Amino acid sequence: MINKAISQSVRTHSQAMIAFRRDLHAHPELPWEEVRTTQKVAQALEKAGIRYRLTEPTGAIAEITGGKPGKTVALRADMDALPVQELNDGLSYKSGTDGIMHACGHDAHTAMLLTAAIALQENREALRGSVRLIFQPAEEIAEGAKAMVKQGAIGGVDNVFGMHIWTTTDSGKISCNAGSSFASADLLRVTFKGRGGHGSMPEACIDAAVVASAFVMNLQAIVARETSPLASAVVTIGRMEVGTRFNVIAENAQLDGTVRCFDVATRERLRAAIERYAQHTAAVYGATAEVAYTYGTLPVINEARSALLAQSVIGDAFGEKALFAEKPTTGGEDFSFYLENIPGCFALLGCRNREKGSDRAHHHGAFNIDEDVMINGAELYAQYAWRYLEQDAF
Ligand code: NI
Repeated sequence: MINKAISQSVRTHSQAMIAFRRDLHAHPELPWEEVRTTQKVAQALEKAGIRYRLTEPTGAIAEITGGKPGKTVALRADMDALPVQELNDGLSYKSGTDGIMHACGHDAHTAMLLTAAIALQENREALRGSVRLIFQPAEEIAEGAKAMVKQGAIGGVDNVFGMHIWTTTDSGKISCNAGSSFASADLLRVTFKGRGGHGSMPEACIDAAVVASAFVMNLQAIVARETSPLASAVVTIGRMEVGTRFNVIAENAQLDGTVRCFDVATRERLRAAIERYAQHTAAVYGATAEVAYTYGTLPVINEARSALLAQSVIGDAFGEKALFAEKPTTGGEDFSFYLENIPGCFALLGCRNREKGSDRAHHHGAFNIDEDVMINGAELYAQYAWRYLEQDAF
């Protein structure tokens, strides 16, 4: 069951939606700098007669109050771009800012949510409850969602829904599985301190290069031996800085890495194991270790009933064939900070189409989307909200 009037409204505004997305694409802005983007969204909300307030320093929260009393459902889109040079030469709406690009599709998310908002506003008399619209900044640095929650984005909200356009899923397919969808993404810094000295006299030194090397080699056992084979985890050391000169034994080593997994219990176990491996590896050689573990995003874990609701909306709106079960991704998504507080789910809107060139990896300079799927994205946002408010079971 979908609301046909809402569908019709989305269709009426679909050309304007694509124009809006192209305008944002041509004017990308980095996290916390989405000033023009926020302004454009605010102007469009105002024109549609939708109540909103601006958040600090960028972003906006809008609200549509239905004609009948009921619950409140929130819809979220992120708005920020990336420090990536766009390589799509010849594109009429190519990024006009050197070194900054909408290389993840957040321009499309913003345009789709705005269109859903307009469609819901046009049909607000039929709504049983309220729809909160969260235009979120700074997703790429995992700070925006937290800041929006702090500024009241989900106060009084019963359920939250979001989506990401997805170039590894075919156009026309949409996925929203119950359970883990995105991984937690944490930062790791390990500093080893040994004792430097002449490269020819190791007996007088504690070689931080040897300690660091042993630690990197040992570390993977955390995944192989301490993580359940039914869970998954990634521990990556991506940067290592050791020593100063070929004939000087290194006194210090600094290693940076990232840790990914799909549930909070595994995450805590990994964190503790990394600390233990660092301390004990250092101790074997007589060195010392210091571990700084910084929590990034939580895993995105879709609440089962919300995911089933989204699947049912996808089937009803686009046909059973549209429903697809995409694999979880080891990427991070700060939508998890909404789900930490309230139930909800996050969908992946397939947009891979080789002929249209929308099959490039997210964050790549040649990334682009299949704009034809945007109408489905806008419709899914709006119909999810309508259906959530309609049902009594929640
Ligand atoms: Ni993204």
